Amino acid sequence: MHKIYGGILLVLIACFALYNTHIYSDKTLFGKVRLSEQAQHGEQLWLRNNCNACHQLYGLGGYLGPDLTNVVATKSPEIIKIFLVSGVRSMPVFSFSEQEKDQLVQFLKEVNETGYYPNKEATIKNTGWVDLHYKK
Ligand code: HEC
Repeated sequence: MHKIYGGILLVLIACFALYNTHIYSDKTLFGKVRLSEQAQHGEQLWLRNNCNACHQLYGLGGYLGPDLTNVVATKSPEIIKIFLVSGVRSMPVFSFSEQEKDQLVQFLKEVNETGYYPNKEATIKNTGWVDLHYKK
């Protein structure tokens, strides 16, 4: 009887080891995002001006302003540039040059290409069930 338990234990340990080797050596989830030079300058501006204190990327950041992960999908570059220098509500007035505005927009464009946030849409049906759709 004890031999069976030993065998089961060994099988479980083997499964555990295989599973772990697989998930920790799977590179597909950690594909590197390479920003263009223009976008890297934009990222520097993003960091230096603390945009993240009020805005979020992928839900991480401050909550005074909206999440900007996919802002370029809903707002044109022209509108975004106007937001950057006009100080709407609690957003400060920044004095970016035209080049800096382009760099920030390019950064946001390349962020947008990395995925969606939120990546799912939930609708409650009148039966009470929830329909979940994942964006890919
Ligand atoms: C002190 C807080 C604060 C900081 C810092 C800040 N913002 Fe904002 N931002 C806001 C708020 C609040 C809004 C929403 C204004 C509105 O819709 O009336 C906003 C709106 C925006 C919008 C338009 C988003 C949309 O969907 O309407 C963009 C783009 C934007 N900010 C980019 C930036 C960038 C880039 C920086 C850094 C250079 C930055 N913001 C720094 C508070 C901030």
